[in-house]
Amino acid sequence: MDPARINPNAEIRPPDTQRRNFLGLATAAIGGLAAMVLAVPGAAFVLTPLRRKGKESGFHSIARLSQLEVGVPRSFAIIEERRDSWVNYPKEPVGSVWLVRQPAGSDPPVIAFQSECPHLGCAINLKADRSGFICPCHTSAFTLEGQPTNHVPPRPMDRLEIETTTGSDPEIRVRFQRFRTAIEEKTPLA
Ligand code: FES
Repeated sequence: MDPARINPNAEIRPPDTQRRNFLGLATAAIGGLAAMVLAVPGAAFVLTPLRRKGKESGFHSIARLSQLEVGVPRSFAIIEERRDSWVNYPKEPVGSVWLVRQPAGSDPPVIAFQSECPHLGCAINLKADRSGFICPCHTSAFTLEGQPTNHVPPRPMDRLEIETTTGSDPEIRVRFQRFRTAIEEKTPLA
């Protein structure tokens, strides 16, 4: 029925105007939805470093005590799952540590060292005769306790925190951290 017949003052909108209003509302709704879709990954991107930092500060289960011989250093890879806002990457080695089992009754029972050289970050090796550590890049050398035996490294090898479970064959867990190289102070990287 013609609205003008019911109420002569009623506004009569042409059909085109109504359609334009509908299209305007639909466009605004789609725009809002798109903004939400973009905002969620954006927030995840901002939060990702926090998640990664939390993970890096955690302890890694490395070995059982029975896998180590007293006084014989053994290297273990640190495996981590890398993840960013969009992709979960497969687990891969992100570094390594040296574990040295101590004589019975020692506390801690195992010493853990970061394998990155404090000089410039090359990987530290065990000497062929197992009497200490050596870095192949610029000949930094260390005792089995991580103390320098020449003047190349600016500080001892970087010791890492460990924790052990209880039981007859405790699990060795290491807090994996990296440190700044080429300086005397042991300074964790953020
Ligand atoms: S990086 Fe190890 S001696 Fe230079």
